[in-house]
Amino acid sequence: MCTKQAESKPLANVIVIGAQWGDEGKGKITDLLSRSADVVVRSQGGVNAGHTVVVGDRTFKLHLIPSGILGPETECIVGSGTVIDPQVLLEEIDRLKELNVSLQNLFISQTAHVTMPYHRLIDKAAEERRGKHKIGTTGRGIGPTYGDKSERTGIRMIDIIHEEDLRKKLEWTINYKNVILEKLYHLPPLEPKAVIEEYLIYGDRLRPHVVDSSLKIATAVQERKNILFEGAQGTLLDLDHGTYPYVTSSNPIAGGACVGAGVGPTIIDRVIGVAKAYTTRVGEGPFPTELEEEVGKLLGERGAEFGTTTGRRRRCGWFDAVIGRYAVRINGMDCLAITKLDVLDELEEIKVCVAYELDGETCHHFPSNGNLFAQAKPIYQTLPGWQQSTANCRSLEDLPKQALNYLHRLAELMEVPIAIVSIGASRHQTIIVEDPIHGPKRALLDANGTPVTSYHDSDQFQL
Ligand code: GDP
Ligand code: IMO
Ligand code: MG
Repeated sequence: MCTKQAESKPLANVIVIGAQWGDEGKGKITDLLSRSADVVVRSQGGVNAGHTVVVGDRTFKLHLIPSGILGPETECIVGSGTVIDPQVLLEEIDRLKELNVSLQNLFISQTAHVTMPYHRLIDKAAEERRGKHKIGTTGRGIGPTYGDKSERTGIRMIDIIHEEDLRKKLEWTINYKNVILEKLYHLPPLEPKAVIEEYLIYGDRLRPHVVDSSLKIATAVQERKNILFEGAQGTLLDLDHGTYPYVTSSNPIAGGACVGAGVGPTIIDRVIGVAKAYTTRVGEGPFPTELEEEVGKLLGERGAEFGTTTGRRRRCGWFDAVIGRYAVRINGMDCLAITKLDVLDELEEIKVCVAYELDGETCHHFPSNGNLFAQAKPIYQTLPGWQQSTANCRSLEDLPKQALNYLHRLAELMEVPIAIVSIGASRHQTIIVEDPIHGPKRALLDANGTPVTSYHDSDQFQL
């Protein structure tokens, strides 16, 4: 049972992160784990994220609002390290309200930076200017918003709820940005007054949700509440540790969750990585195991691999255990959730990249030098497929032996236990592994030996 009284709460603060290039199924896993959470926090990223949660015959696509919002009592905090496009956020709020989801427990950091119209315009114009060197961004103004944050010319949530501050800051900033829009990109200038009025309306609507988020999280920690940090994007899209420059402009890795939420790393009990049973990537950049021929198309079709945010076709490839091991290391990952195993159901054989060939040498590590990574040739191990449906499996024993064998090999190669296996988008298409595959410890137990998810026991998590 997912109890909600603070006294009986085990201390389990969990970070969920993407172990690949995003879209690993973090939304589904967060929704699942949030049954045992009191608070769900988004720490970084913005409306470039698209997290899908399927509940019965309803599909929720969330961009900024934490996936925990579907739990009526769960507090959802959009932290300081995120960037907020208020227009998209308000659309998301309205859509959820129409679906009878309560937004009463949604809290937004006053220090989160705000995406402005000039950020979106500059994002798109800069991509066009880059031509064949484009990054393939989502066009949502993410890079320019974080750029202004670093340059210290950003507008924050606190500004859009204070009219005087907003007028002062935006008039100056828009005049400055207009020079860039006009002179560099030959775009029409923005009208400061119109933008100010638009954002004041957004500020008015969002005001009741705006809080000191790090204080709110600290209070929850003190009350021994369970806090779940929902990662956006993925490890290989990390600004510092990903495949730069083909990355996003924030830190999706586990360390980034602490920075973005404003908590110390000592409060974290568990880091759960989410990885697909194969690999996908949207946008440009190197992808050693990419499959352009038939199998790639099959994975794309069976996995419905189209971006949640932009609708772009996701590039598909075999599972890459080299980047997987790297993600385990960079995130200090305790255990893995493997999603979309069912997508491999039809295949006669399945390949896994176990190492790279680089300059005639075998390389077992992710090369942080981007030029080297772009030249990496995958060295594959071929495993037999199972050629039967896994969609109705509810325990490891139900899985065909080749599927279990495949999971064992992934855990062995990544040197981390598998604690959750997902075999469909629905909540019930999930196997919580009691004894994690290849695990030295019960990966879903916290330091006190209490499960961090009570998924099997809870029947009260219906909308
Ligand atoms: P996120 O950004 O990491 O939350 O992932 P997305 O929601 O962008 O993409 C994952 C997609 O796969 C969504 O459409 C999910 O509904 C779907 N999905 C999640 N887990 C599974 C699974 O185990 N099997 C299948 N077939 N689909 C899944
Ligand atoms: P979720 O949270 C997959 C990718 C973009 C592009 C690069 C930079 O749903 O996993 P940006 O707009 O962030 O400047 O684009 O990052 N990207 C994602 N890919 N899933 C995401 O989020 C992504 N967010 C950004 O496609 O390659
Ligand atoms: Mg996504």
